Amino acid sequence: MIVLVIVLVLVFAPTVHAAIDPEGTIEFTAVEGSSGQVRLEWSQVPDAVDYYVYKSTDGINWTVTNVGNVLSYQDNSVTDYTNYFYKVYVTDYVYSLVTPVVPAYPPDTNVHGNYAENTQLCAACHLTHAATGEKLKVATTTVNLCITCHDGTQSKYNSLTGEVRLSGGIYPSPSGPFGNLKELDYDPGVQVVAGYTYDGTQEPSGLPTSIHNLGEMISTAPGSNTAYISALNCTSCHNPHGSTNYRILRNDLFTSGSSAPIVVEAYPVTGPTGENVNYVRGTVNFCGGCHSDFHQPTGSGSRGADKTEETGFNLSSDSAGKRMHAVNMRLTVYNGVYGIPLTMTAPLPTESWAGTPTVVCITCHYSHGTKEAMAPNPVRYGGQSTVLKRMDKMKLCSNCHQK
Ligand code: HEC
Ligand code: HEC
Ligand code: HEC
Ligand code: HEC
Ligand code: HEC
Ligand code: HEC
Repeated sequence: MIVLVIVLVLVFAPTVHAAIDPEGTIEFTAVEGSSGQVRLEWSQVPDAVDYYVYKSTDGINWTVTNVGNVLSYQDNSVTDYTNYFYKVYVTDYVYSLVTPVVPAYPPDTNVHGNYAENTQLCAACHLTHAATGEKLKVATTTVNLCITCHDGTQSKYNSLTGEVRLSGGIYPSPSGPFGNLKELDYDPGVQVVAGYTYDGTQEPSGLPTSIHNLGEMISTAPGSNTAYISALNCTSCHNPHGSTNYRILRNDLFTSGSSAPIVVEAYPVTGPTGENVNYVRGTVNFCGGCHSDFHQPTGSGSRGADKTEETGFNLSSDSAGKRMHAVNMRLTVYNGVYGIPLTMTAPLPTESWAGTPTVVCITCHYSHGTKEAMAPNPVRYGGQSTVLKRMDKMKLCSNCHQK
């Protein structure tokens, strides 16, 4: 018997070869779009046997292609103005590694990342000896730089109108509009741009009725105790050089001492009338990075707050003892235990990480601004605002609580 086992082991043991280092890394070095094509390049992994390309349009269903032992792949079966997600898996059939998921946007090349083989992309935003802006930027302020493309001219996303261009036309984008951003002339040394201020006393001059006011100090974010003194900017939330998060959201907002990276996973799916996002996880941690007090768990509507769920933050004195609508909880009524599922009259975005719809900040709020015309709410530090809401007050609440 023992002899037989030894013989079997000798016969079936895999040929001994140097193996992939399971602690190693593999990353995309270029992801370039052009009409009807996406070209992928990735870094070499010593002792790899085969590389596999995973492709998806929704982050849920993936097709897998064994591309052999090569370091690039050209996908010719893509449709322009559709979002694709790719990852590369490498194996020696004992050990394996996988890249983070990257999006691709044919016919455009995403200028935000995967630079290793594509350093000419720096020139889209920086000039080495003739720049007009700080940090060698091609525009005077960061916002102006972003808007040179995100006014819908060199990107399919128009952040001013809050729209996305698809093959069938122009549709609302998930984050909402910023309106006609204009530069602050009284503080030219600071790279800020101001939207209009809507305090309930003046009619909005642009499209939105409220926005994340760029140029406001981050420390003034309602529901926060952050001492981070910096003006709110596109790059306070997005990393222009790319990140592994959905929408290149920052892994670190620099607002707490906590070094735990923020992980936001979601997939914008191109549909016939716009992008419908499969939100998976992490958006509450992201919003909570500046509005930490509002990150409250199930039951918080009936319990005076004494802490926040946002790692690395203490509850600010403004919020002590306040009752706040819970977030990151399942869409069911709460009476000490979870009960009957709530049904939404109109679909609002929820996250799926719990396996059942989970209510998050962006269930009720847009991220950039809202163009819904509605009665403003009184807000914490005086004045009134429509606070980036997706629906008017009564409609929003009764969308889930049909009273
Ligand atoms: C989409 C526009 C964009 C592209 C493309 C881009 N950058 Fe930047 N970069 C910026 C912006 C905006 C800032 C300022 C960031 C801020 O103010 O927070 C910046 C800042 C920097 C800085 C100084 C701050 C830091 O992060 O270290 C360096 C260095 C830099 N970029 C290098 C590069 C290089 C090298 C490339 C090409 C591989 C590149 N950038 C491509 C937009 C871009
Ligand atoms: C040179 C043009 C250009 C500039 C400048 C630029 N972008 Fe982009 N951006 C793009 C393109 C192209 C895409 C890919 C989507 C598409 O097809 O339009 C994109 C995508 C994005 C996305 C979506 C990323 C994703 O994975 O879904 C965000 C967020 C974004 N940009 C933010 C910014 C911010 C913030 C700035 C300023 C720091 C900026 N961009 C500057 C061209 C630009
Ligand atoms: C307070 C944080 C914050 C600021 C400031 C911000 N963004 Fe965003 N942005 C987000 C979030 C969060 C999303 C994803 C929203 C969603 O999918 O619901 C997003 C989405 C986007 C997208 C993807 C398309 C869309 O509109 O949904 C682009 C492009 C973009 N932002 C560009 C910009 C530009 C340009 C600026 C500055 C003018 C900016 N962002 C300022 C948080 C921010
Ligand atoms: C980088 C910091 C930062 C992040 C991240 C951030 N915010 Fe804000 N937020 C601010 C600041 C600063 C203000 C105050 C300036 C203003 O009123 O626009 C603010 C204001 C608001 C307001 C009140 C606006 C008004 O008109 O009174 C809402 C609502 C809001 N944020 C929701 C969100 C949501 C939802 C997210 C996540 C998608 C988020 N914020 C992420 C900094 C941030
Ligand atoms: C169930 C819907 C809902 C959810 C979920 C929600 N909000 Fe709100 N939020 C509102 C409404 C409604 C207001 C208007 C003020 C009020 O009624 O207290 C508001 C107000 C705000 C304000 C302005 C507060 C002020 O007084 O200036 C901020 C900032 C804000 N929300 C951020 C967040 C963040 C961050 C999250 C997630 C941690 C979140 N909200 C989750 C509905 C919601
Ligand atoms: C997306 C669906 C949704 C929307 C929109 C919504 N709620 Fe809720 N609400 C819930 C859920 C889920 C709970 C259970 C919370 C828990 O687990 O503690 C809840 C709980 C409550 C509670 C009970 C808290 C407790 O401790 O028993 C009140 C009161 C409430 N919501 C008021 C509101 C108001 C006011 C609005 C409008 C600003 C609103 N809700 C909008 C889903 C929603």
